[in-house]
Parts: sequence; C-alpha cells; structure tokens
Amino acid sequence: MHMPVKQSLLAKHFTEDVASELRRAKTNRGFSLDDITRSGVENPDSSIGVYAPDAESYEVFWGLFGPIIAEYHNIENVDSLAHPQDMTIKPGQFTGAELYRDRVISTRARVGRNLDGFALTPGMSLDERLEVERRVVDALSKLPDDLAGTYHSLADLDEETRNKLIEDHVLFKQGDRFLESAGVNRDWPAGRGIFLSNDKKFIVWVNEEDHLRIISLEQGGDLLSVYSRLVRAISEIEKNVPFAYTQQLGYLSSCPTNLGTAMRASFHMKLPALEKSGELDDFAKLLGLSVRGIHGEHSESVGGVYDISNKRRLGLSERDAIVGLHVGARRLATEEELRK
Ligand code: ADP
Ligand code: ARG
Repeated sequence: MHMPVKQSLLAKHFTEDVASELRRAKTNRGFSLDDITRSGVENPDSSIGVYAPDAESYEVFWGLFGPIIAEYHNIENVDSLAHPQDMTIKPGQFTGAELYRDRVISTRARVGRNLDGFALTPGMSLDERLEVERRVVDALSKLPDDLAGTYHSLADLDEETRNKLIEDHVLFKQGDRFLESAGVNRDWPAGRGIFLSNDKKFIVWVNEEDHLRIISLEQGGDLLSVYSRLVRAISEIEKNVPFAYTQQLGYLSSCPTNLGTAMRASFHMKLPALEKSGELDDFAKLLGLSVRGIHGEHSESVGGVYDISNKRRLGLSERDAIVGLHVGARRLATEEELRK
C-alpha cells in the first residue's frame, strides 16, 4: 500500500504559471524565487515550505505567497485584506476558564516582530544581525521595573545552561533543518540571545526566526495574566523600536504563518482521553487550533500533554485569536471529560 505523501503549501501552489511569472523576479536586495523556496525544496516534508528573506519579497513574489497565505490563514480574499488590529480584552471574555484550568500545566503567548528597514532573518548579513541585536538590547534596557531583566548573548551561555533553558521551554532550540535551509542559522551563534525578566515570566528571543520573539510564560492556566503581560511588553518595546507592518499583512515575519498578529498563544494541556480515542486532531481542526508536542514544533507529546494554540494569526485581531484559544480549550476540556 502506498502512503499518501503529505504535500506542502509550496508544492501545492508553485504552479507552472507562478514559476514562469516569477522566474526572473528579484527584490532590491537581490533575493530570488530560489531563496524563497529553498527550505521547502530541500525539506519535502515541510508543511509550508517558503520563507521571506526581506519584506519586499511579499510584494515581488506575491503570486506565490498570496495563495499560501490565503490557505494557511483561511482568508477568502487576501488581495484586498485589511488586517484588523485590536489587543484589548473586555471583561468577561474568559468566562468558563474553570472548565480547563485543572488540565492546563502552563500558558504561553508570543509574538514575532521585525525591525523596519532591515532584511528578515533568512536574508540578514552578519552586520545587520549585530545591529539589530544592538538596537533591541538597548530598547530592552529601558523597560519598566516589572519587565526589567538581563540579556544573555547566546555565545556567552555554557552548554549546560543552554540545555536547561531549552528543557524548561524558555530558550529556542538549535539546528532546525527548515530554518537551516532557509539561511536563518547563518553565522550562528553571533547576534542571537535571550532576555529574561527577573521573574522569568517575560522573555525575548533575539534573532532566532524573527528579529524578536516577545514571550509571556507562566505556570497554570491564567490566560488573562499571560496575555496582559504580553500586550504591555509589546507596547513598551514598540516605543523604542519601529516594527515592520503593513495594512494588508499586519506585522511582517520571515514565515508566512507568522504574519498579522504574529501571535501564537498556547496551553500545555493534559488530554489523555482524546489522545487515546484518536480524536484530538479532528477536534483541533474544527476549533481552528494547532496541536504540537511538549517541546514545541516537530516534537512529540509526553504523557498525554499537548501544546494547543491558535492556528490563524492573520486576518483576525489579537483579541479574537486569544479568545479563540480560550473557547477552543473550553470545548476540548469538555470533550475530554466526556471520554474519561
Ligand atoms: P514558537 O516560538 O513558534 O511558539 P515552538 O513551538 O518551538 O515555537 O515553541 C517554543 C518553546 O515554547 C518550546 O520549548 C515549547 O515547548 C514552549 N511552549 C509552547 N507553549 C508552551 C506552554 N503553554 N507552556 C510551556 N512551554 C510552552
Ligand atoms: N518551514 C516549516 C514547514 O514548512 C515550518 C513552518 C511553520 N513554522 C515555523 N516555525 N515558521 O514545515
């Protein structure tokens, strides 16, 4: 029997017409179709398969990016999209959280951000990477007390400390082959690092897949607390570094899955009965959620615990994305109870 081969969005949308339309196209920085598609070509098991080496790539190679973005974020008319931004939360939007609280081990919400005027991580030179690090570290040093902390350059962390931080879900992993092919890991570890607030609940990754990953993380299932910290941190940092943003695509990011809000909010949730019944993926799809393993993307679950997050990031507001996770988790917890 032949197993069906999973098709990436690149494989699906890279038609003859698209190839001939874009074959000779280049951005002002000189990036071509090969640069955009290399990761998906070298890794045929990609789910998406493309990265943008600079912001202009989204315009120049729109013939390829457009259909991929529309499909991933489930947007009907992506050409005329005006991405809505709204980070506010109204009282009562997290009602019924007690239905899932006991099942949630920890809660995390992150956004990707990139500095306006610089290449994105797949296309950055070493000089640009170091300059972005310098500007970001400077902005982080101006944060108010409860967000204040320390920046650690990746090169200065010994292996044991690094591994412990990765194990504790605080630091990014090393050697992702999808990023490697895209050029994101060039000059490793130069220009990369991690900022940790004194209470360790607020984290910033510098020059990993995006210039910044702004992260709020705490034990337990208090989504409002995690989200409020994230929103406050974003607005404080944005006072000092302007981020790349367009009306159509929201915050720009190196991966088309991370446009718009660029937000992934997640629960580490105990769902052993849904795992056992084999229905978790179907419910997640129905609820617009992604399912990852315990150590993030491309990892496995341990002991029935899954990373459950919002799938869509573009074409909906931050508020709708976070409430979507809350509503989805409530439903998953209810279905879990029914199968216990
Ligand atoms: P991303 O930064 O895109 O969200 P990953 O899926 O690789 O990327 O996750 C990064 C890290 O965050 C991993 O160590 C993952 O286990 C951790 N993580 C994600 N969600 C949670 C959560 N709710 N609680 C604790 N750690 C989490
Ligand atoms: N490029 C990888 C793929 O297509 C990852 C895509 C989404 N994840 C990410 N970290 N950007 O499977």
